Amino acid sequence: MKNIILIGMMGCGKTTVGHLLAGRLKRTLVDTDQLIEAREGLTVSEIFATEGEGYFRSLELGVAQALSLRGDLIIACGGGLPLQDAAISALKESGTVFWLDRDAGEIYDSESLADRPLAQDGREAFLAKAAERRSVYEKWADRVITDFTSSVSTAARVMEGLE
Ligand code: S3P
Repeated sequence: MKNIILIGMMGCGKTTVGHLLAGRLKRTLVDTDQLIEAREGLTVSEIFATEGEGYFRSLELGVAQALSLRGDLIIACGGGLPLQDAAISALKESGTVFWLDRDAGEIYDSESLADRPLAQDGREAFLAKAAERRSVYEKWADRVITDFTSSVSTAARVMEGLE
């Protein structure tokens, strides 16, 4: 069966919604950041601090290409993964891409972003980054999800998108 691929801005809820989907659909959730952290034995912040973003992106590409060869997964992508065409195009070939299009201001005001190295420059910078990325997320999305009333309802909208 095809993969379910979740993309969107950091903190939009990909991992939380992915867990709910995995439970409902009896599938395995893979979070690309967690996979990279487990392989490297370092947190994403530590990888950025010691090796830099470029190295992190190369790991992300490798993970995306490996996951694209598998099926039946729920894949929660790091927010920047779709910036690499080769990473997201491989994943898109393997399933359906859902963009969790949650308001960036709401994310910044309500989520803890302390462990996101690219979210440490204040609210305006975060909103600008989100605005810049919209066209990228839009380009790769098969479906756009805009209901963030609760994680349960977001997961329900994704499941409707599978029908
Ligand atoms: C990033 C998002 C993060 C993580 C890294 C970079 C980004 O993942 O991959 O901090 O560039 O948007 P989440 O979207 O899971 O926070």
